[in-house]
Amino acid sequence: MKKIAVLTSGGDAPGMNAAVRAVVRGALSHGWQVFGVRNGYAGLLGGDLQALAARDVGGIIQSGGTVLGSARCPEFAEPAGRAKALSNLAKKQIDALVVIGGNGSQSGSASLAREGFAVVGVPSTIDNDLYGNDVSIGCDTAINITLEAIDRLRTTASSHHRAFAVETMGRNCGYIALMAGIAGGAEVIALPEHELSPAEVAERLLAARQRGKTHALAVIAEGAKCGVHEIMEYYGAHRKSIGFDLRVTRLGHVVRGGTPSAADRVLATRLGAAAVETLAKTQGVLVGMVKGEIVTTPLAEVAGRMRPADAQLLELARVLAM
Ligand code: F6P
Repeated sequence: MKKIAVLTSGGDAPGMNAAVRAVVRGALSHGWQVFGVRNGYAGLLGGDLQALAARDVGGIIQSGGTVLGSARCPEFAEPAGRAKALSNLAKKQIDALVVIGGNGSQSGSASLAREGFAVVGVPSTIDNDLYGNDVSIGCDTAINITLEAIDRLRTTASSHHRAFAVETMGRNCGYIALMAGIAGGAEVIALPEHELSPAEVAERLLAARQRGKTHALAVIAEGAKCGVHEIMEYYGAHRKSIGFDLRVTRLGHVVRGGTPSAADRVLATRLGAAAVETLAKTQGVLVGMVKGEIVTTPLAEVAGRMRPADAQLLELARVLAM
């Protein structure tokens, strides 16, 4: 019989619970024993593991966040930290680990794999920046929360003939901003993958006004160099060049909270279950979904790499904002 452990790590993402549920119940259906690790890699360091039964993961598929808790754990990046974690896993006689998390978390799992421990990664981050996977768990919900904010801001933008700059999360990846910007019909989208200067943002907002628009929306990715702060500063010095009154909204952690979308729950369920099936055969890989198919990519190839947003879609957004 196999004994496996599962943890959620890094920034929480809507759908993590559905993934935990799928891993636990998938493993139980193989006759394996499953342990939940509290608070990500920090729980591995502290030996904070608890056996999980099918009922322990009941009623969580619809909850945001993670019932296991999560943390950022710089200690785990050090060999001494990992040695402590490996010794705690050995004490509990755990054969393998499933790591549900984003880029930093999968770099951690790649290190464990390199050191000989059986580990499988499940891509879960609102940022959607993981190599070896098309869309990560949590990203769809984050896009929809951003989109809802954009739609709401459009109401006031339109009533008051204003422009709004909305900043959404995503760290160094512009995927959330790009998708929410396209779906929200934004006039301007600024991404780390395609930088715009504050003057260019102003120029596009002014051009929208000159085309007869009564309001305008700029969606700004958190990682863009021209952030909402820079845009507001520019506005302070060049009010006329924007053509509209301008207000700014930073969504921050709001986009990480709340109920996971159906798409995130289904994706998390499929990837969580696939992680268990993968562990039955192999290890040291990220289980992802590429073009609708489950695929595995060696964690050594995933670590340290980033999947950028497809900036070509920006041109489509620009043309259709005419
Ligand atoms: O990686 C997810 C994310 O929400 C990023 O979009 C953001 O840059 C970062 O985490 C914020 O980190 P923290 O929650 O630790 O402040």
